[in-house]
Amino acid sequence: MKILLFLALIVSSYSYAQSGHDHQGESQKKDDQHGNMHGGDHHGMGGMHGMHGGHHKLDKTTLKQFFEPLPASIIDEKKNAALIALGKKLYLDPRLSINDTISCNSCHQLTNYGVDSQPTSPGHDGKRGGRNSPTTFNAALHIAQFWDGRAKDVEEQALGPILNPIEMGMPSEAAVVDKLKKIDEYKTMFAEAFKDEKDPIQYKNVGKAIGAFERTLLTPSRFDDYLKGDENALNDAEKRGLQKFVHMGCANCHNGVVLGGNSYKKIGLVEPYKTSDVGRFAVTGLETDKYVFKVPSLRNIAKTGPYFHDGSVKTLDEAIEEMAEHQLGRKVGPGFIEDVKAFLGSLTAKGN
Ligand code: HEC
Ligand code: HEC
Repeated sequence: MKILLFLALIVSSYSYAQSGHDHQGESQKKDDQHGNMHGGDHHGMGGMHGMHGGHHKLDKTTLKQFFEPLPASIIDEKKNAALIALGKKLYLDPRLSINDTISCNSCHQLTNYGVDSQPTSPGHDGKRGGRNSPTTFNAALHIAQFWDGRAKDVEEQALGPILNPIEMGMPSEAAVVDKLKKIDEYKTMFAEAFKDEKDPIQYKNVGKAIGAFERTLLTPSRFDDYLKGDENALNDAEKRGLQKFVHMGCANCHNGVVLGGNSYKKIGLVEPYKTSDVGRFAVTGLETDKYVFKVPSLRNIAKTGPYFHDGSVKTLDEAIEEMAEHQLGRKVGPGFIEDVKAFLGSLTAKGN
């Protein structure tokens, strides 16, 4: 099933790319693609009749083809308790920055869905980078880290911002290690977390600890309950939104366990999107990677605005509208936006 979905995704994104140069007969083409994607095994697709008839449930097979519930855990929290506790302390500690003012938590606030709610984020001296801070929640499940995927996992990623001159601004790995070695609490905590190591306070271990902590930042939602079979976990508007999200083609890119995070796609696949950020091209040097970004996860998306790599889109309504236009060449109205927004709201961490 997974392989089939994968193939369908390749085929469909290829045909989206093709249709980018031809705006005539757009809707006819889209319907054809839907036919391809579901291999004809899905009812109600021909013209999306299902959406108007009060019948707004996706069948279980389609649902399983696209989405997967969050795993209960991706790290043994008991066995790694010391490592995780150290990682959390480091994550929250502004002493990891040159002037003791900025921590990971400044830009990825644990009490604010892992974001700072700003278009771009000020670092230790107030300067801002060109990209929006994505959430650290569920990020460990992505294929790679950063908008352009340039770090392979959360452990590697965590080592970047500490030395980044406009983020935490530490001058060198050695400077970080020296600073930590002067703090008694860290001497104890590193020794506990890295029991077998003679010299546990090392730069790479900072990444290991923070990464371990980030692996605990999973946020189960009502959508997970729904995927696991609780029909009442979503209300009617949310179910309608889910159906529209899949039928429109959003789930071609935003799928899997975090509804994104598992592939790279061009922003402006059908309708060009104005940006000076070349995205993944900077990592691979491939012409075909210009304006290509990691498809962001949509978990907690109702809470993590502003949106897009440049933080230029203020509201979720606009983000949905722009996605339909730029990625799918479709104009959507308030009904679509409202329902899809309702569905996306069901991806917010439970208890919130
Ligand atoms: C000054 C603000 C700032 C600070 C401090 C900061 N980050 Fe980030 N973080 C960002 C921005 C901006 C990006 C996106 C940059 C990019 O993609 O090029 C990012 C990306 C990430 C990602 C990738 C998420 C994804 O979806 O790809 C993770 C994980 C992360 N940061 C964790 C951390 C950790 C851990 C620390 C502390 C060691 C930290 N950040 C410190 C702003 C910050
Ligand atoms: C062809 C792949 C593709 C399709 C189809 C697609 N998206 Fe996206 N989506 C992306 C990419 C890539 C981004 C990141 C764009 C950027 O910031 O450069 C994104 C970003 C988003 C964001 C903002 C995420 C954030 O953290 O800022 C939302 C919300 C979103 N998409 C929703 C949708 C909806 C709703 C649909 C259907 C109408 C849709 N997407 C269709 C690839 C896609």
